[in-house]
Amino acid sequence: MDKRLVIAIDGPAGAGKSTLAKMLAKKLNYTYIDTGAMYRALTLKVLNQNVNFKDIDKIIALANSTIIELVNSPFADQPKVLLDGKDVTKEIRDPLVSQHVSLVAKIPEVRKRMLVLQRRIGENGGVVMDGRDVGTVVLPNADLKFFVTADINSRAERRLKDLLNQGYEVDYESVLEELIERDRIDSNREVAPLRPAEDAIFIDTTGSTIQENLDKIVSYIEKKLIQIEGDN
Ligand code: DC
Repeated sequence: MDKRLVIAIDGPAGAGKSTLAKMLAKKLNYTYIDTGAMYRALTLKVLNQNVNFKDIDKIIALANSTIIELVNSPFADQPKVLLDGKDVTKEIRDPLVSQHVSLVAKIPEVRKRMLVLQRRIGENGGVVMDGRDVGTVVLPNADLKFFVTADINSRAERRLKDLLNQGYEVDYESVLEELIERDRIDSNREVAPLRPAEDAIFIDTTGSTIQENLDKIVSYIEKKLIQIEGDN
């Protein structure tokens, strides 16, 4: 039987990594784990409880007392995100959450808590995990690591289209500004900044279709499986 790989997919917001990771997991019949959704769920709780984003101690306490679950189902294209048992899959995509999530994700103690949860899910293999630090910190021994990028304008256009489709009233300028600010905080934080792993394979999605990029990733996976089989 084929070995069930651990696949890390990192990159900035809007580069198309979640779409690729989701499609890949479906194709391989692996579990898809969206680590960003976990930070988003906690951020939603901070917003719902009107906690000040400067109140780091309170946010850490919330992180340690919150139950976040990602529920995969073969019948849904999107795993469900449960926050303390409540389905928040849609709410965590709200632009207000996007604007604040990097402030929560840069707190070291919050990351520590998420790391434990993410490693627990990832360690058994058969997983595609997407995020910012999966290949560098969460699963440094992943079998394959991809770093998905795109130029800032196509990322903003993609994100704008997604949000308009979901019914949010947003404009290009505000989406662009949010992406730039999020990149800045995610790339400059002290713990686990957004960065490609040394052994990451770069996939630039600018100007190419999802299918082309998926095919590229699948060809790397096939090569890896052949190599593993040869080693055994
Ligand atoms: O992938 P996303 O846009 O839903 O992620 C939301 C935020 O969560 C992102 O701006 C930074 C944070 N994040 C993180 O710090 N580490 C991860 N592994 C995933 C996301």
